[in-house]
Amino acid sequence: MRKPIIAGNWKMYKTPKESLEFVRQLRDKLKDMKDREIVVCPTALSAAAVVETLRFSNIQVGCQDAHWENEGAYTGNISPAMFKESGVHYVILGHSERRQFDNDTDARINAKLKNVLRNSLKAIVCVGETLSEREAGKTENVVETQVNGCFEGIGLGDLAEIVVAYEPVWAIGTGKTATPEQANEVHAFIRGLIAKRFNDDAAANLRIQYGGSVKPENIKQLMAQADIDGALVGGASLKIDSFTAIVQF
Ligand code: PGA
Repeated sequence: MRKPIIAGNWKMYKTPKESLEFVRQLRDKLKDMKDREIVVCPTALSAAAVVETLRFSNIQVGCQDAHWENEGAYTGNISPAMFKESGVHYVILGHSERRQFDNDTDARINAKLKNVLRNSLKAIVCVGETLSEREAGKTENVVETQVNGCFEGIGLGDLAEIVVAYEPVWAIGTGKTATPEQANEVHAFIRGLIAKRFNDDAAANLRIQYGGSVKPENIKQLMAQADIDGALVGGASLKIDSFTAIVQF
């Protein structure tokens, strides 16, 4: 049985003060939700304070990227070892905005993933096609290349620490959601790729989140799909009411 996982990706929103005010409210509103994993991913600057505020709660904390080295001359970067010491649980890797604006390639995401795992953190690995790729009928090709590139050299034993997020780029922040059926089709395809690369059991246990304009209005239909195990939520995770409603789907 795969435990649903709902994660809020705050991107470059919320100052440290706003982040703490938000999670104080969230903690109280969601304190009874024990049958699902809840994760919030503030900016790196707020992560440690958010961890402190959520310490005895049922909400975990993620960050939005982490480096492939643990330390070094990499101005502006933060390593998984540093996030680990700060009490962070999850690291989002390969988000399409980082692929687009910050040179995250599959090879780089793979190196980051290995270092995240070496530091005993969990990863949310994002994949997804652009609109032109979908229109050209290349969705499966693109997703297969991304999954294979990101999972290169990852062992079966590490799979339990990894969540995959399928986020069609054309649905992110656009208000356009993939239909639940469209999303599920790609989720099932990804599960098949994992079965090929690892085995059927591993694939059956892997959690695959959908991301891209998830809202209180569509979460139920998405979660009703056989291969959708959660959501990675951007815009709607920034408001208490909408994020709470999504978590409580
Ligand atoms: P969105 O973003 O929910 O605002 O579409 C999702 C994401 O980028 O993870």
